[in-house]
This record gives sequence, structure tokens and C-alpha cells, in this order.
Amino acid sequence: MTNYALPGIPVSEDPANSATLPSEAYTDQAFLDLEKRELFYKTWHFAGWVGNLKDIGDYVTTTLIDQRVIIIRGRDGELAGFHNVCQHRGHQLLVGSGTVASITCPYHAWVYGIDGQLQRARGSATTIGLDVDAIRLTPIRVEIVASTFVFFNLDMEAAPLAPQVSDFIEDLNREIPGFGSLVNVPFPERSSEGDPMFPVEANWKIVMENFLECYHCRGAHPKFSEDLTLDDLTYEGHQHWAKQKSGTRRPSGGNQIFWTLFPNLVIGTNTGDNSSLFVGVFAVPDGPTRTVAGHFEMYRMAGDEDGEDYRVDWGPLGTEDRDLCESVQQGVASMGYTQGRFVYTPDQGEVTEEASHAFNRFVLDAVGI
Ligand code: FES
Ligand SMILES: [Fe+2]
Repeated sequence: MTNYALPGIPVSEDPANSATLPSEAYTDQAFLDLEKRELFYKTWHFAGWVGNLKDIGDYVTTTLIDQRVIIIRGRDGELAGFHNVCQHRGHQLLVGSGTVASITCPYHAWVYGIDGQLQRARGSATTIGLDVDAIRLTPIRVEIVASTFVFFNLDMEAAPLAPQVSDFIEDLNREIPGFGSLVNVPFPERSSEGDPMFPVEANWKIVMENFLECYHCRGAHPKFSEDLTLDDLTYEGHQHWAKQKSGTRRPSGGNQIFWTLFPNLVIGTNTGDNSSLFVGVFAVPDGPTRTVAGHFEMYRMAGDEDGEDYRVDWGPLGTEDRDLCESVQQGVASMGYTQGRFVYTPDQGEVTEEASHAFNRFVLDAVGI
């Protein structure tokens, strides 16, 4: 439970009769601190493709806001995870990805096994009470989803991820033939660094809420709206995830589908192309009024790794969304605004905000409000 109280009208469970979040949720450092502690540090986060962690000692590193982690294949064949911090004076241990037989800190060369056990602390024999055997890297939880994606959780008490996402994985399997044989492929052009949307001078939830509805598309994204048949757009807002699906007018045909696994993982595909999808940690808070991108990955079906390079030309979509979000951030801090209403019109194409509402309920449930 939390002592934090949001002012205004609560965000109700019913999207047809719900206020949006009040301004404070988008501007207050204390609310972001609460989100970090109760939401980000207790939910599951994407770390990459299991195929990059095949052999003993294979590791990847990643970051959750301000927390650095290592995920590594142990000698027992299982994946293990640790905070990426030396127990001596706190230096980062590993960078990037690769394969190691042991982990040597670059600062004073303490050596850890790949099971996190300290093996050697150079020159420490006469240091009173420094028991090498008692020092280990601090563990985190790791789980593989759908035999494909690696997730981690900083909360050792967290509920397992698989039961939370079973219907989500079922839906991915239903929509993407060959989902079970995905292969991560290099796709630097789609890296988050190159995304024209980021950084955004807006709260991370404004970025997610904007992503989760296309109510704004016809007016704010004229080119994108020509690509999609918005009249048939459908939304689903579940407890842990949301889905947006629209037909396209692209030569490849098929549907454009975006799934969002709360809080901030986005999976997108065009089923007409039928061979690739991107998976990206979308909106990461960098202070209450600034959002940066996490890391994006591209996947193709096994056997099609060298297939024709498929890209959707998103045109000015990213910069249009950035400008929308930055205007909204200014607006929620205005003396002329406190909170708004979600629009809910089921079965009417793009005109509904039920996925944004589901996302808000996820955030509030996580922080205990
Ligand atoms: S901080 Fe790692 S060995 Fe000193
Ligand atoms: Fe948009």
C-alpha cells in the first residue's frame, strides 16, 4: 500500500465512465518515484532473444531506468540474472553482450564466477571480516517466455510471468504463423537511437497513452491514416496487455498489429509481410517530464533470416507523435487543466481510448492506488 494520494476523480474500472489521470501523475517527481519502486522494479521487463544466450557463459546486459543488470547462461544450463554491480565499491561489471568464463570487475579486478559467487578479492586476506565465500552478486529473476523472449524482474518475490501472459502468447501465435520459430536479426536502422520520436519532453505515460490509441490518427497523422483502414481498427485492453489491429492499404496487404505488454513493451508486425516483427522497450522515464526509448529488436521467421528487407515507411509519424506528447505535457501542467475523460465507443473503428484506459488501470493497480 502507498501513502501517496492522487487528487481529483479516480480512474474507474469502467472505460465508459472514467476520468483520465490527474495532472500530478504526469508532473510530480514523487509519483514517478512511486512508479519506479512499485511498478518498474516489480514488473517483468524484456531483455532480448534467448538465442543470443545459447551457451554457458553467454551474457547480455541491459538497463531498467537506473538499474543495470546482467543475464547469463550458467554452468547448470539455466539462465541467471544479477544486478550489474561489483560488491566491492560498486563499479559496473559487464558491458554489452558476449561470452565469459568468469566476471572480472574492471576497477580493482575482483573476480566472480558466472554463478555470481565472488572467487577472488585481490590482496584481501588480511582485511578483517572480508569473507570471500559470503559475497555474491545480487540476484534478479529471469524467465523465458514462449521459448523465445527473455524477461527479468528485480523483485525476487514477483509472481511468475508465464501465467500473466498466456493469453497474450496465444494471441501472438494465432496472428503470426511461425511465431514459435522467430530469430533475432540485426536491424540497426530500426534501433531506438535512430527513432525520430525520442527523446520526448513528456511523461512516459503520455507517450504510452498516445501510442495506445488511434483516436488521434485521422487528424494528427494524415499519411499514416492513408496507410491504414482505420474504420476496421479494433482494440483490446486486458489487465496486462493491449492490442490494436487495423487493415492496411499497403501493397503487402494484411493487418498492422501492435501489442503492448504493460508497462512499456511494444511488439509490432504487418501480417501481409508475414515474416518479421519488431520488439521494443518503447517509453522509459527519464525524470517526470522526459521519456527516452529503450532498446528495439527485429525478428524474422527461422529460414528467412536473409529474406527481403521489409520496412514500413512510417513517414513523419514519430515527430508528429513527439509534438503531440510534448504539447500534452505542457497542457497537463497548465493552470487551466486538472484532468479529462476517456472516450469509449466500442465497435466503432478507431474512436475509442479503452487501451489507454487499461494501461492507466495497470499503472494504478501496480502502485496501489
Ligand atoms: S569496484 Fe569492483 S573490484 Fe573494486
Ligand atoms: Fe500517434
